[in-house]
Amino acid sequence: MTKNTMTLLATAALMVCAPAVLAQDKAIQQKVDALMKHMTIEEKVGQLHQLSGRQMTGPGSEKFSDKLADIRLGRVGSMLNVKGVAETREIQALALQSRLKIPLLFSLDVIHGYKTVFPVPLGEAASWDLAAIEQSAYIAAKEAAASGIHWTFAPMVDIGRDPRWGRVMEGAGEDTYLGSRIAVARIKGFQGEKLGGLDRVMATAKHFAGYGAAIAGRDYNAADMSEQQLHETYLPPFKASVDAGVATFMNSFNTLNGVPATASAYLQRDLLKGQWKYPGFVVSDWASIKELVEHGYATDLAQAAGQAINAGSDMDMEGYAYSRHLAQQIKDGKVKSSVLDDAVRRVLTKKFALGLFDDPYRYSDAAREQAALNDPEHARIARDVARKSLVLLKNEGQVLPFAKGLKSLAVIGPLAEAKRDLEGGWIVQSDESRVVSLVEGIRAQLSPQTKLTVAKGCDVACVDTSGFDAAVAAAKDADAVLLVVGESWDMSGEAKSRVDLQLPGKQAALFDALAATGKPVVVVMLAGRPLVFENVADKAAAILYAWFPGAQGGNAVADVLFGDYNPSGKLPMTFPRSVGQIPISYQQYRTGRPVLSEKNIVYRSAYIDSPNTPRYAFGHGLSYTSFAYSDLVVSKPAMKQGDKVTVSFTLTNTGNRAGEEVAQLYIRDPVASVVRPLMELKGFQKTKLAAGESRKLSFQVDRNTLAFHNTRLAWVAEPGEFELMVGTAADAIRLRGKLTLQD
Ligand code: NOJ
Repeated sequence: MTKNTMTLLATAALMVCAPAVLAQDKAIQQKVDALMKHMTIEEKVGQLHQLSGRQMTGPGSEKFSDKLADIRLGRVGSMLNVKGVAETREIQALALQSRLKIPLLFSLDVIHGYKTVFPVPLGEAASWDLAAIEQSAYIAAKEAAASGIHWTFAPMVDIGRDPRWGRVMEGAGEDTYLGSRIAVARIKGFQGEKLGGLDRVMATAKHFAGYGAAIAGRDYNAADMSEQQLHETYLPPFKASVDAGVATFMNSFNTLNGVPATASAYLQRDLLKGQWKYPGFVVSDWASIKELVEHGYATDLAQAAGQAINAGSDMDMEGYAYSRHLAQQIKDGKVKSSVLDDAVRRVLTKKFALGLFDDPYRYSDAAREQAALNDPEHARIARDVARKSLVLLKNEGQVLPFAKGLKSLAVIGPLAEAKRDLEGGWIVQSDESRVVSLVEGIRAQLSPQTKLTVAKGCDVACVDTSGFDAAVAAAKDADAVLLVVGESWDMSGEAKSRVDLQLPGKQAALFDALAATGKPVVVVMLAGRPLVFENVADKAAAILYAWFPGAQGGNAVADVLFGDYNPSGKLPMTFPRSVGQIPISYQQYRTGRPVLSEKNIVYRSAYIDSPNTPRYAFGHGLSYTSFAYSDLVVSKPAMKQGDKVTVSFTLTNTGNRAGEEVAQLYIRDPVASVVRPLMELKGFQKTKLAAGESRKLSFQVDRNTLAFHNTRLAWVAEPGEFELMVGTAADAIRLRGKLTLQD
């Protein structure tokens, strides 16, 4: 289904249930209004104050005594990091001692699973499987919601084109279209149809906005870009999140074109709450209101409070700006009381929608928590999502899959037996004893006759090479050699920017030592971002990119290595040849001096020491079978603005085993009033075909597919000819067609 048909269906569904929804909304608004009539300014400000606390009850709770007292006094609206039925119940009970007994919202970074750890979000994005991604978010929500959590700070919908930025791990990659579709799938998975389901949580679209464009990939750094770039590349996933009904937004730490996003009235008031009519609330990022002072945008915390709320930041996360200064800002006339009321109304509306006024403990149910956190079905689903996220980058001579009856296999490398690293960053409640290492997953699938040797070689930092000899000896002795290398879990994620994206320490030398044995070396790589590994890419027999695949990672990787699952992942980010090519995306803009031939790059837009092309392109990913594309038909050669055109083709599995292919539709607008990228993804379909099977697939193209923001930021589709490209990766277009948009 194309984006456009999905939007149409969503609109139709909205129209059908609109009256019921409106009635419910109205009822909630009446309750909110009634409650607000009784609230003092201080109590209102309290609803906008969010605090963090871990293990706030029991031994050690003294250090939280101020926070606990504030909760009792109704001066706190939400907590983050308080989790579990026992603790959320205890803390909620304190809030219910306050004058108006307004329940707290419990929030947490449930980013890729709660108890059951799924692949990191970038890994899941590599599945291009929206149903699997939605299901992963649903399981995370189900477990978290049973543990007292009402609200997750996910999905991160920032576009990431700079793998130096460690937080690419938390997003859906570089592409705006793919990122928007994945944002919607995640929001649906977290929230369900309507807020208040006991197996769902509120979602957050974050970080609004431009956070992924941090200059030089350094986390928290400034972002500076044209309005066009902002509207074309960075904002659409946020808009898609609004359309999908995301309950909350989080703003971001960065400045955007000179204004801290947290204090940006343009982003939060004009765009989000104005043009986009967003009814939810905006939470600041951690102390980002306080950081307005550090940015040099506010002279002190009091001014920061006024600036942030006036700009549309509704809730202050651990910044103490609102709790300390907002009431005074109102009394001083710096902030209108209507601005405060609007923010409070937005927060209370969610509390009513979640049913917390009917039963403040409804998410904190011990029996449900036990059942949800110990449901064996969740591990099965995590394994399925994990294997879908694996990307086979290279498979020379079809060295993979391995035969299960191999005589001997050497599994080598610092991450061969890793457990914690498989989980990746942002885990909140995981149980390491549930993690299946690669060696464990492999052992479980090998025939008992196979001799399995394990040699670490070195640890992840790989400074000490004294283990290399034993690793080489193990490789020489074995029929097949598998090397497991990459980053440790804490090398990607927030505040984990890197300038060097090569394999850490001497890991590449370990690979070289194994390759020198002459044995074909199969490499599994773990990382939260694209790494740079030219030598391995040249010399390895096969490379399986596993990201951080989660608790079932060992089983999932073994499923692919031994052919029980035919790999189907495709890269959601371009893999550069060197850090010098970054930022990098397949969506390059045209230049006046394109490289027409690698042999002639003089005075061309080129590097003198590297090709422009990436090592692995966006959309790349191999299968154990092969696919042929044929018979492209564009339903009509020309269309008018209101028309729809179908682009169809035949996909055939030409190999000898069943497999899944992600067919991708790209367009190019060759001449326009704003220079367009060389190609833009506009549709994709993941399809499973039996060996030898053919299927006709189609994409719908309409005005929206062809449109872009012009210099006045109007969304226009300009008449003229468009190129249509269907293929298996951004650098592997198989079919081309044309379409004319008439005046
Ligand atoms: C800071 C991060 O930027 C944000 O994504 C996260 O949700 C908050 N901390 C809360 O942990």
